[in-house]
Amino acid sequence: MMRNFILVSVFLFFGLVLAGESSQTVSVFAWPIGSSTPQQLAQITYGYPSLNYSIKSYKSPSLSDASDVVRVGFYRSGKEGAWSGVATSSVNFGSDRQKKLRLHLDAHGDVYHVGFSATPLIGKGDGSPQTEELKVELVEQQPGPQPHLNKPVVVNAEGKVDEGKEPEKSFLQK
Ligand SMILES: *[C@@H]1O[C@H](CO)[C@@H](O)[C@H](O)[C@H]1NC(C)=O
Repeated sequence: MMRNFILVSVFLFFGLVLAGESSQTVSVFAWPIGSSTPQQLAQITYGYPSLNYSIKSYKSPSLSDASDVVRVGFYRSGKEGAWSGVATSSVNFGSDRQKKLRLHLDAHGDVYHVGFSATPLIGKGDGSPQTEELKVELVEQQPGPQPHLNKPVVVNAEGKVDEGKEPEKSFLQK
């Protein structure tokens, strides 16, 4: 029993080492327009490539004006002072909203973009506590071939485009 546990632990350990598992922490800020400084919104530690995470801290920002626009973002690692983020309405930080942070990771597991969305919390109406205030989603850069954005549309032999081409051709040839 103990032996199995040790073996499994050893395999897990080397598995993670071989996979290049790394742990990273990112601080996400809320920065109201018109405010000179950002406020720390959340600190999230995540494992890459296993994509597990834990929210180390979460603090609802103090906002003066309900109609304010609030930037949500982070500072890119390595590039000093390079802010990257999105903008949202301060209404979305209300306690009646389910907030969701989306962390987009590059091929190295570093955050390159953050997203933020909020949806109204729907209470169960039975007085039970509502869902957690902040949700986190880690989005990995999709591996594999890039979409062929500049490639012309390919139509198969039976495609209607081919049939449509003929009259056009003959029209131009006239
Ligand atoms: C992710 O999982 C690994 C392996 O179980 C663990 O060592 C690590 O602490 C976890 N990371 C987080 C942020 O929960």
